[in-house]
Amino acid sequence: MATKVKKSFICQNCGNHSPKWEGKCISCGEWNTYVEEVIDKQQSKRSLTPQKKNHPNLITEVKNQQLERYKVRDQELNRVLGGGIVPGSLILFGGEPGIGKSTLMLQLAIKDTYKILYVSGEESDQQIKMRADRIAISNDNCFLLTETFLPNILHHIGKIEPQIVIIDSIQTLYTSIIESSAGSISQIRECTSELIKLAKANHISIFIIGHITKDGNIAGPKVLEHMVDTVLHFEGDRNHVYRLLRTTKNRFGSTNELGIYEMLSNGLRIVDNPSDILITDREEDFSGIAIAASIEGMRPLMIEIQALVSSAAYGTPQRSTTGYDTKRLNMILAVLEKKCGFKLGLKDVFLNVAGGLKVDDPSIDLSVACAILSSNEDISIDSKTCFAAEIGLSGEIRSVNRVEQRISEAAKLGFKNIIVSKYNEKNISSLTPDINVVAVKKIEEVFEYLFG
Ligand code: TYD
Ligand code: MG
Repeated sequence: MATKVKKSFICQNCGNHSPKWEGKCISCGEWNTYVEEVIDKQQSKRSLTPQKKNHPNLITEVKNQQLERYKVRDQELNRVLGGGIVPGSLILFGGEPGIGKSTLMLQLAIKDTYKILYVSGEESDQQIKMRADRIAISNDNCFLLTETFLPNILHHIGKIEPQIVIIDSIQTLYTSIIESSAGSISQIRECTSELIKLAKANHISIFIIGHITKDGNIAGPKVLEHMVDTVLHFEGDRNHVYRLLRTTKNRFGSTNELGIYEMLSNGLRIVDNPSDILITDREEDFSGIAIAASIEGMRPLMIEIQALVSSAAYGTPQRSTTGYDTKRLNMILAVLEKKCGFKLGLKDVFLNVAGGLKVDDPSIDLSVACAILSSNEDISIDSKTCFAAEIGLSGEIRSVNRVEQRISEAAKLGFKNIIVSKYNEKNISSLTPDINVVAVKKIEEVFEYLFG
């Protein structure tokens, strides 16, 4: 007797099930994302009778079997993961196409001393070898496999017994348990759960590379992010050389860490002193530039903000930003107009965060406002002055977190003045003698101080 196959329509964006095809997903609102998939051939076999013989244990009696983390050569990766790779963990590694995911993972595989298996479903052996030669191979224990059929991959993992496995990418894998095509939600989910079982049972750490959708999520539903232990994101502007490695979920460490790399012709290089690189050494001062003492992850980072304000040539003025939220820019422009009396409503405003970085630390608000004012007035800001404060709707200068860390980083890099919020003064216990801390309450005072 033929087994009854259960089918369902599944949204490829969020994983929502529907018995019939829908044009628009009722769960995530995306259009044309429903695809018919076979959901589970073995569903009828499931029952409520207990199968496993696991007993509840007293938590105080559970033995702590802490396995030592794999400390890889890539110090940034170690730090971002919370001090190395936990054996048996599953790490999802997402990023836009061409950002350098395969490069970073291949680099890990060929430069370390652990036994690593690199599985690629995207490139041929030859292509990977060419890339590896460019980066320079130093690991004699690195295996390469070009395969997309999951059972074959599992078989080879069983034979080679690597410590770390890299899957490039989850969207290319498929298994015969599910009938839908590779890259569909059901396939991704099934393959990931098989990999999790393998990882946990054999203490193998697995990196899974995942593609990213146009709105910045890892393709496949959030389900995938729930299943894995750690989610890493690789981001940056493809036209710039800097890449940021962030964690958005980590079961074994903080999600506040950040790794910074530079893409060179022979692979990715760790940037040890990011602030030094992000700020251009200028002989003369230009208007429209302000330096923000920001914090990215746990690290202080000096970021150069550039603004250009010019008369709107055509009708509606333009507001254009790179690396900064346009809505936030509009808010700052409105505050400047209302509180400082600048008529910016008829001007084009362009804003750029140097180095192709994307910043969402609100502490750069003040430097954004000052860069705009500097460009508007065509008066340069002293290159040894930096800013760390948020701006409120009423024009008040609001405090920011970890202000001491920002001040000491600024002092270390040779800045002479730092402008912070008056409300932050109580957090500053030990003053660094090399830097003058200017505490202000309102945006007008900053304007007075700079151009007064
Ligand atoms: P890749 O790792 O293939 O990106 P992803 O896997 O995220 O899609 O990297 C692609 C880009 O990186 C490619 O456009 C060229 C660049 N690149 C370098 O600049 N230097 C290098 O040494 C390598 C290997 C790649
Ligand atoms: Mg790739």
